[in-house]
Amino acid sequence: MSELNKIVLKIISNGKGILAADESNGTMTKRLEAVNVKSTPENRLSFREILFSSDGMKDCIGGVILYDETINQISSTEKSIPDLISSSGAVPGIKVDTGAKNLANSPEEKITEGLDGLRDRLKKYYDLGARFTKWRGVYSISEKYPSKLAINSNAHALARYSALVQESGMVPIVEPEVLMDGDHSAEVCFKKTSEVIKKCFEELILHKVDLSGIILKPNMILAGNLSKNKVSNEEVSLNTIKCLKESVPNEVPGIAFLSGGQSEIEATENLNLINKNNDTNFIMTYSYGRALQQSALKVWSKNIEDKVTTQNTFNHRAKMCTLAARGKWTSKLESK
Ligand code: 13P
Repeated sequence: MSELNKIVLKIISNGKGILAADESNGTMTKRLEAVNVKSTPENRLSFREILFSSDGMKDCIGGVILYDETINQISSTEKSIPDLISSSGAVPGIKVDTGAKNLANSPEEKITEGLDGLRDRLKKYYDLGARFTKWRGVYSISEKYPSKLAINSNAHALARYSALVQESGMVPIVEPEVLMDGDHSAEVCFKKTSEVIKKCFEELILHKVDLSGIILKPNMILAGNLSKNKVSNEEVSLNTIKCLKESVPNEVPGIAFLSGGQSEIEATENLNLINKNNDTNFIMTYSYGRALQQSALKVWSKNIEDKVTTQNTFNHRAKMCTLAARGKWTSKLESK
């Protein structure tokens, strides 16, 4: 087993999942202002530190994705943030892309940037304790999109990023996110997501990325959020598995889904059904941002001194997601 594969398994085995706490300062400001909390470096750290020092970390969270600001912050107990995360048994990770910008010659679409100087930044993050990384390509669905240009250029960037990350001794999370915004059907989401993921693997293989040392972070196969034709959770799970079976090479050890705007319960229920119906060898778990933090953030915003209630809320959500990653969640457990 390679060192990279060992890191992957440490992060996602036994029902453990990933806490995506890597919101950029811009996104975190939106999240905090939505609950009437001022977005300062202290408040951003304070909420995150409460999550990172909660009991739910030990049993449920195998990895935490950080943003550059957070990985450089010091906790209230004087520990570095990566040390705080490692002390719970989880692996510290870092978002290394520098965001999605308008794609030249298709300006309604996005290309993710951050390759320039990446090798040096990776060394710095490794020295700070990171052992895995994230890069998110983002694609929207409409009649014309995603274009071949967006699919090819983002796949190329994801592959170059992954090769550099593995060279630096870390595991790349490969995240091609096909957004759920729009009125498209689940069939269209299936088709576009398959195309996007297949192209990513074509490029990853071309760039000689060790597929046993990556984690794929895809969207689930959902109808657009404005679609009138809703599909059942059972169908979501079956379509998602079918899509991944057809597009992901067998060497990939694990898949950790993003929540992408689904509610906490929806994201939990869909993951649970995916695991109940999983007839592949892939580990299927979560790498949730909003679907792990939303309720905890709401509770915390009512009284930012109330660490206990915030942690209890987060612990519950993490426990539910980990049950779902084992296919053992039921809606009744939500009220216990
Ligand atoms: P959500 O689960 O809120 O979609 O965030 C996951 C993530 O890391 C997106 O890049």
